[in-house]
Amino acid sequence: MNRLTDVSWEDFSSLPLEEKSPYLSRGDGDGTPYHTLFAQQFDRPLLERLCALANRIRFINKSCEGAMFLKSVLAHKRAMLYFSQPSSRTFLSHLAACQILGLTTGSVRDAATSSEFKGESNEDSVRTFSSYFDMIIMRSPKQGLAEKMAWELSNSSRPIPILNAGSGKDQHPTQALLDIYTLIRSFEMKGGVDGRTVVFCGDLLRGRTVRSLSYLLTKFDGVKQIFVAPKELQVPDDVIAVLKEKGVEHSLSSDLKAAVKVADAVYMTRIQDEWDESKGESAKIDTSHFKFGAEELALLGPDGVIMHPLPRRDEISTVCDHDPRAMYWRQMRNGMWIRAALIAAVFGYEKTIMECGY
Ligand code: CP
Repeated sequence: MNRLTDVSWEDFSSLPLEEKSPYLSRGDGDGTPYHTLFAQQFDRPLLERLCALANRIRFINKSCEGAMFLKSVLAHKRAMLYFSQPSSRTFLSHLAACQILGLTTGSVRDAATSSEFKGESNEDSVRTFSSYFDMIIMRSPKQGLAEKMAWELSNSSRPIPILNAGSGKDQHPTQALLDIYTLIRSFEMKGGVDGRTVVFCGDLLRGRTVRSLSYLLTKFDGVKQIFVAPKELQVPDDVIAVLKEKGVEHSLSSDLKAAVKVADAVYMTRIQDEWDESKGESAKIDTSHFKFGAEELALLGPDGVIMHPLPRRDEISTVCDHDPRAMYWRQMRNGMWIRAALIAAVFGYEKTIMECGY
């Protein structure tokens, strides 16, 4: 078994992502994560198990007795939500997921309210949280911080799991999980996800949800990926390199309408101008052709779905909101269930929930 205690930070951090995964698992032999850092940790059987667990939690929670049972499952655990970047959905859905499972929670949502304001390092802050909590759910603008903290904690006297709720421009693994869960549910009665065409549109360069979801879609057979963006914001080369290596059919385009005509799912994203390197950089890019409105809705097939990690600005018109193919509201709620499933699995309670009598 690979353990983070057996590898130096230098050696671990230089491994390709897929080779890091065994170091991050619980060691049960089935890939269940201990630390959840990258989409690369999830293979298809694990994705399907987590979706089944999310469905089970969703069902059990419908009855008062079932909800009380779920609340007892992790009532002995505490989780810290450490968000040093703005968030509505990821913060609240993790909080709600903890509440469903009975975990008590603490939070820092602004470094200005913690001792980081006094100059404490991220490393010392996380070590401090690990003194009081049993899991850290963290979002940071710093690429790789969650990974570094996972290594640090595993090599400390109080190792606890880290759950990456968004790091830099690179990874948002639980968003990818909820996106996959939404796709699986959307196509459950319509032949499944295999063989579908997924169109990504918007700021594909800096949207970390795109990188994570594009990777997870490679776990499904014959899923074609089309990337529609202004040339300045097209999907980065490392994402394309993965698709080429895995033999995934893909194309780059600037024609949203043409892509929508062949799409089973359209994944819209907003312009991520918080990453602009100079003021007004994104505003200079013509994004007017990368918006989904009534015309695109008319081109989408009857079984097609429209997704968005949210928050949105104007890249999906509100005229789409009540269309049954708009899945972005469901994505949010699905995020709560799949995050509850992941947290239960991380703590080793998958079987307890799957086999309970509710
Ligand atoms: N999708 C997403 O990460 O939303 P928040 O930034 O609101 O958490």
